[in-house]
Amino acid sequence: AANTEIDLALFGALGDLAQRKLFPALFHLDREGLLDSGTRLLGLARQELDAEAFKVRVEAALKTHVKAEELDRAVLKRFLARLEYRQLDFSQAEGYAAIREWREGAPRPMVIYLSVAAKLYGDICRHLEASGSLDEQSRVVVEKPIGYDLASSAEINDAIGAVFPESRIYRIDHYLGKETVQNLIALRFANPLFGTQWNQNHISHVEITVAEKVGIEGRWGYFDEAGQLRDMVQNHLLQLVCLIAMDPPANLDADAIRDEKVKVLKALKPFTDDMLGRDVVRGQYIAGTSEGKSVPGYLDEDGANTESHTETFVAMKTQVANWRWAGVPFYLRTGKRMPEKLSQIVIHFRQQPHYIFDPDQRGLAANKLVIRLQPEEGIALQVLTKDSGLDKGMRLRPGPLHLDFSSAFPKTRIPDAYERLLLEVMKGQQYLFVRRDEVEYAWRWCDSLIAAWEDRNERPRRYPAGSWGPVASIAMITQDGRSWYEDY
Ligand code: BG6
Repeated sequence: AANTEIDLALFGALGDLAQRKLFPALFHLDREGLLDSGTRLLGLARQELDAEAFKVRVEAALKTHVKAEELDRAVLKRFLARLEYRQLDFSQAEGYAAIREWREGAPRPMVIYLSVAAKLYGDICRHLEASGSLDEQSRVVVEKPIGYDLASSAEINDAIGAVFPESRIYRIDHYLGKETVQNLIALRFANPLFGTQWNQNHISHVEITVAEKVGIEGRWGYFDEAGQLRDMVQNHLLQLVCLIAMDPPANLDADAIRDEKVKVLKALKPFTDDMLGRDVVRGQYIAGTSEGKSVPGYLDEDGANTESHTETFVAMKTQVANWRWAGVPFYLRTGKRMPEKLSQIVIHFRQQPHYIFDPDQRGLAANKLVIRLQPEEGIALQVLTKDSGLDKGMRLRPGPLHLDFSSAFPKTRIPDAYERLLLEVMKGQQYLFVRRDEVEYAWRWCDSLIAAWEDRNERPRRYPAGSWGPVASIAMITQDGRSWYEDY
C-alpha cells in the first residue's frame, strides 16, 4: 500500500529494544505484506560493524524472538536484504552525512526511530537537520521516558520541536499499541450498554493493576534514577486512566482523542503531603521468592547502590475531579517482583438502589467489569445469578460472562504492540501516540507526588519479592471498605 512506503533509520539498532521488539515487529509487518517492496532499513549504532555482520546480529535476534514456525525462509531473506548499517557516534555532527547519502534520491519519506537515551534526542535532531538529511515528510519516533520531570521533558520536547513539527513527532507509549488497550475504545464507544453507565451515577470505583513478575533485569542504572512512578505510572498507567475516564471523542482523529485525554490529565487531583501513607504507598522489594526460587532484594541486585530509596512499587488512590467522575476513586498499583505478570482493569458498578434478597448476601458486589490486558486477553462481566439447587431458594451466586479473545477468535494472531505502532507511523497516523501536552500534564501530576515524597523524606516500605506489595497498599483500599480484586 502506497501509504506504508517509507525508509526507516533506526538509532540504537544494536540495543535491547531494537533486537527484542523492533526487528521482530518489522519482520512481522514484512511477513504480513505490509512493508513496501522498496522499503529499506538503516541500522545506526556506535559499534564498528559491516552490513553482513549486522545482518547476522539481526537474524540471531529474530531467531530468538520470533516463533520458529513464523520465521519463513523467503520472508527472512527478503527482510535481511532490506538492511544496511552505518557506524555513527550520535553526538558528533560529522557522521550524519552518511544518512544524507543513504537517502539521496530516495522517493519514500524517512522515519527516524530514536531507540536511545532521551538526553540524545536534541543532538540527533539537530545533526540530522544540519546534515541535510531531512525533508518535509520526515517523521521522528521517540521512546519514553521523555525526561525526568516537567522541566526536563519540556527541554527535550523543545529540542525535538525545533526540528520537527508536532504533526511529525510520534511519542511512543507501547501500552497504546496493545490490542486490548485499543479495545477500551471499542468497548466504551461501540457498546451502548457501557456507554450509558460510564459515570459516577453507576460506577463506584475503578482499579488498575499492572503487576510484573520480573525484577530489574540488569537495568539498575536506568531504573534507579527513574523508579516505578516515572517508569510505569507517568506513562502506561495514566494512559489507561485516560482511556477509561475520557469523554467520547467526536471521531477517531488523533487530536479528537488526544484532546479528550488531556482533559482527564488536567482533572487529576494533585497530591499533597497529607495524602502520603494514606492514599499513596511507595514500596521496594526485599529478597523473596519468584516461581519457587529465591531471588535477591532490590538493593542486592547487580550494580545496586545499597542506600537507594527508589521505589519498585507504587499504589495510589486518585480522583478525576470532573462532572463524570466526581467521588469515584481510581485505585492504581504497579510493581516489580509481584507474584505474577498481570495487567488488569476492574470497573466496579454501584449496587442496586433497592435490595430484596437475603440480607446476609447484601455485601455481594453485583457487577464488575474486568478487562484483562495481559496475559490471556479477555473481558469478563461479573453478574449475579440465582444459585441452582432445590435447597438454595433465591440465594445469589456471582458468575462471569466471559470473552476470552484467544478462544473466541482462535484464528487471529494478536500482534505485538510495536507492530501496530510501527504500522501507524508508516501510515502517518498519530492517534496511538502521545501529544506533547499529554506528556506534560502527566508530569505535572507526578511532580506533585515526587515533591510530596521529597518534602516528607518518604522512604519506600519493604515487601518481599513475590508478594503483592507492602501491606500498607492493602490497607489503603480496605480503609475504604473495598479490596483489590483477587479472583485472577
Ligand atoms: C516499560 C518499562 O515501559 O514497560 C519496563 O520501562 C516494564 O520497566 C515494561 O517492564 C512493561 O511492559 P509490558 O508490555 O511487558 O507490560
